[in-house]
Amino acid sequence: GTGALWGGRFAGGPADAMAELSRSTHFDWRLARYDLAGSRAHARALHRAGLLTDDDLNGLLDALAKMDADVASGALVADPGDEDVHGALERVLLERVGPELGGRLRAGRSRNDQIATLLRMYLRDHARVIGGQVLDVVAALVAQAAAHPEAPMPGRTHLQHAQPVLLAHHLLAHAWPLLRDVARFADWDARAASSPYGSSALAGTSLGLDPVAVAVELGFEGSVPNSIDGTAARDLAAEFAFVTAMVGVDLSRLSEEVILWATKEFSFLTLDDAWSTGSSIMPQKKNPDVAELARGKAGRLIGDLTGLLATLKGLPLAYNRDLQEDKEPVFDAVDTLEVLLPAVAGQVATLVFHTDRMAELAPRGFALATDVADWLVRKGVPFREAHELSGACVRRCEERSTAEGREVELWDLTDADFAAISPHLTPDVRSVLDVAGSLASRDGRGGTAPARVLEQLAEARAELTRL
Ligand code: ARG
Repeated sequence: GTGALWGGRFAGGPADAMAELSRSTHFDWRLARYDLAGSRAHARALHRAGLLTDDDLNGLLDALAKMDADVASGALVADPGDEDVHGALERVLLERVGPELGGRLRAGRSRNDQIATLLRMYLRDHARVIGGQVLDVVAALVAQAAAHPEAPMPGRTHLQHAQPVLLAHHLLAHAWPLLRDVARFADWDARAASSPYGSSALAGTSLGLDPVAVAVELGFEGSVPNSIDGTAARDLAAEFAFVTAMVGVDLSRLSEEVILWATKEFSFLTLDDAWSTGSSIMPQKKNPDVAELARGKAGRLIGDLTGLLATLKGLPLAYNRDLQEDKEPVFDAVDTLEVLLPAVAGQVATLVFHTDRMAELAPRGFALATDVADWLVRKGVPFREAHELSGACVRRCEERSTAEGREVELWDLTDADFAAISPHLTPDVRSVLDVAGSLASRDGRGGTAPARVLEQLAEARAELTRL
């Protein structure tokens, strides 16, 4: 034997480069404690099937518990000669309880069903961790929204001034996609809650072992209905990677705005010192590095997802060694988000908004032109014509801006300007050239009227508590 898991039919050990290529302990060791939990559950299944005596079972469980403590403390690590986490832990078990007892544990299972199960266990745990961290970002957005319940800002489409909105409304617009991401993790978990343990190599377990009992012991709802699917499928890893990529993209969109708003030109916010960095040469600099790293890491998370999908494409059933490549992308996604999310939460919580500046810009760029059109509609003018007339007001403002060399806004038009455009445009049109009025008028569900945004804030808080 070579000391590996399959000595019998081989005359010699693997070539050095073969072993080097094959080795995965440097990334799969993080599954060691899940592997040991699986082994304990499997030992009990063997015992129930009459394949281990009470003493055998207790000997194995004691050794496995001791190994778990040693892995947790860092005293037990893989050897350079170990191929993967399963092989390494079997080697140590054999060293500790002897080949006679240790050699009984491998009956009726395969690394194929082990790895598929351990990966689900690991991802389910980290989906909860990441979900909680996403909720911390949401809580920071909600707190900022609650702190600015009345502050208006320019709402944009195409990055152009569109209509005034409340800052709280805009901040909550970043919270909702993140709340949906957390809900996506929960939906995903319902699918990930089936254990492949007992699928064995591909055809299912023999020896009278009970996959459901093992599943329940490992925290699953049940076991997979198809052993081939149980060992070959990685759609759950890919779906997990999608949700992490989506979180990355959602954070990136938020971050892009933080970066933009922190510019001199926008001056909508100031970053807290603790969540920004300086320049080694330019003394004045205060850079939005958290937001930039979030934007950058979104690219990496998308790469993790697409790399994994590319690995799966074209794989015949059932297990292929290609599947060993499933782990690093999702581990990278986990590591990336678990470091990134607390920093984003800290940055968002400490943003200082310049609400005077935002309020001053809110109506500019003719952002109240829709309100003029709506006012005309209330006076009986068909919207099509109202749209034309309001557009003519904007054109008049632009002509005058050019002629007078200053910015002329809708409220600067004279009674004569309005009357020249249409007799419908009486001077009291100025009653709607007002940000507070514009905001208050958008009072349908989901709208930016302050009362609706307060409602929305309560809904977001309820969702935070529910998830
Ligand atoms: N280390 C492998 C993986 O990560 C599991 C081992 C299965 N290997 C095998 N030759 N059947 O997928």
